[in-house]
Amino acid sequence: MMAAAAVNTHAAAPSGLSASDPAELLAAVLRANAGTPNARLKQVMDALIRHAHAFALEVDLTSAELDLGMDFLVRMGQASGPHKNEGILLADILGLATLAQLRGAREALAQGGTEPALVGPFWRAHQPVRANGESIAASDTPGAPLHVRGRVCSLDGTPLAGARVETWQASPQGLYENQDPEQEDMNLRGVFLTDAEGGFHFHSVRPAGYPVPVDGPCGELLAAQGRGIMRPAHLHFIVVADGHKVLATQYFDIEDPHAHEDVVFGAVGSLLRRFEPDGRGGFGLDIELRVEPGETRLPHCPLP
Ligand code: BEZ
Ligand code: FE
Repeated sequence: MMAAAAVNTHAAAPSGLSASDPAELLAAVLRANAGTPNARLKQVMDALIRHAHAFALEVDLTSAELDLGMDFLVRMGQASGPHKNEGILLADILGLATLAQLRGAREALAQGGTEPALVGPFWRAHQPVRANGESIAASDTPGAPLHVRGRVCSLDGTPLAGARVETWQASPQGLYENQDPEQEDMNLRGVFLTDAEGGFHFHSVRPAGYPVPVDGPCGELLAAQGRGIMRPAHLHFIVVADGHKVLATQYFDIEDPHAHEDVVFGAVGSLLRRFEPDGRGGFGLDIELRVEPGETRLPHCPLP
């Protein structure tokens, strides 16, 4: 008798769901989300649930593959800490960071705003404030000189005085200072305040491209996909101007061999630029940073 009870395969599942209808399961999960008090969270979770179920059905996801995926997420967390963030890297290599940036800027872009680019994992809090015209390179940083001249303005062209411009870049060896014991703390990083005409300028050295960090699960994924791992040489900028949305962007060296195959898809459109030779072995980069009126909200800073 006991054996017969144990093999009763016709018993209803505890939730009352039919075992064979994925649509019923999806409807039940959506019902479980229906009472989420935060409307935006409800909308996001509804869509995530629908797409995740559609994805699992499309690829006929097995339990073993699901375990593998969850283990990947766990190991991403274990590989992350105050100095490394595999979560940001995953969003970057999937193109999601670029997609969110471009979607968030679509109204500004339609009005001539500067194209945004992802922040990435190497922006540091408390970068040193420097005077206009100063160098962000410590005196012993070897490399071709680079002079960056910029102007910050609103969408209608009004110059923005007193705007805060954060910049950071890799060295000519393709390393950020926090990855390289040879460089001084905060080398190739700085914060500039724009003058009455919205202008700022600084000296530096021409950066090199570099591989994204591949010593964690995201590196394994890139290898399994047979993908490249390089970013073309670039400088990062974050512009913070009162009464304007914060702009995060990057300018890329169009002569870099990986200019058209950025592993994180940030090197788009007008952000690819020629670093102009100055005739004395150095280079110049002129940029205009056009920002959209709106609420000033800083992005998350990944590094202390
Ligand atoms: C960066 O530009 O600093 C970056 C962006 C994504 C991944 C790694 C680095
Ligand atoms: Fe970078």
